Amino acid sequence: MAEQRIILVTGGTSGIGKETVKQLAATGASVVFTARDEAKAKQVREEIIKETGNTGVEYLVCNLASLASVRACADAVKERWSGINVLINNAGVLPQERQESEDGIELNLAVNFLAPFLLTNLLLPLLKANAPARVINVSSSMHTEGDIDFADLEGKNHFDKYKAYAQSKLALLLFTRKLARDLKGTGVTANALHPGVVGTEMTMRNVRGMNPVTAFVFKRTLISPAQGAETSVYLATSPEVAEVSGAYFDKKKAVPASPLADDKESAEKLWDIAETNVMLYK
Ligand SMILES: NC(=O)c1ccc[n+]([C@@H]2O[C@H](COP(=O)([O-])OP(=O)(O)OC[C@H]3O[C@@H](n4cnc5c(N)ncnc54)[C@H](OP(=O)(O)O)[C@@H]3O)[C@@H](O)[C@H]2O)c1
Repeated sequence: MAEQRIILVTGGTSGIGKETVKQLAATGASVVFTARDEAKAKQVREEIIKETGNTGVEYLVCNLASLASVRACADAVKERWSGINVLINNAGVLPQERQESEDGIELNLAVNFLAPFLLTNLLLPLLKANAPARVINVSSSMHTEGDIDFADLEGKNHFDKYKAYAQSKLALLLFTRKLARDLKGTGVTANALHPGVVGTEMTMRNVRGMNPVTAFVFKRTLISPAQGAETSVYLATSPEVAEVSGAYFDKKKAVPASPLADDKESAEKLWDIAETNVMLYK
């Protein structure tokens, strides 16, 4: 009997995540996706089963803007499966104004960095148990626009929506690279990626704020969510990247990331801050 592959994807209800789940389900893998809305999750699950014929698609309700919910999600995974092969931290936000998570943490930092940080760390024993296994973090080319503002990590003194998003995606890259270093020899790899500039709800929310001419031109450059899922699916399934860890991918190729993503001191400092935060909110 063929070995059962279990892949967990966060944010599987729309955009790139939904297409990632669909494409992975089409390979015959067992795919579990997280959703914050159960009714939406049921509908997406039915749609994907119908389209792919793969009944091994399941969902877990999880709000990544709550660290308690992330813990509950990891517990639910542990109860149901003894190992997982791939974790794709896909879910993300780009809020139009400064918002806070249920724990009172700035939302980009909470959802785009702290949630994947906690979920990955909680699920590492399951990934190690199923090694070779892969952690895949959906970052963004926008990370090159960011730096880590340790003096005002949560934008309390000054908030710029793109700067906050870029910082969270750089933080995710620093995390990915530290994870890859720490996991050397365990059979678990960690890589990050840019999915492309994709015509999803996240992008369209920003397009709606553009002047009509700019919006018209910009919309013509967008790729589809299905195309946006391709690098995640490649990193989850391709034997070509079985041994690759700590890399940043775009269009299924390892490409250079911002030099700031290699700053080991920042990575350590950020890890300590993340650990303190996730300890605070149980
Ligand atoms: N679109 C782009 O051009 C682009 C470019 C670079 C990187 N990315 C990254 O790609 C990833 C997917 O983005 P997308 O474009 O597909 O955006 P999207 O269509 O807005 O989808 C985001 C997904 O994340 C989920 N999500 C948001 N907040 C959540 C929360 N608090 N708890 C749990 N789930 C939550 C959403 O759930 P709901 O369905 O319930 O809303 C949805 O499934 C993100 O990490 C994004 O930063 C996107």
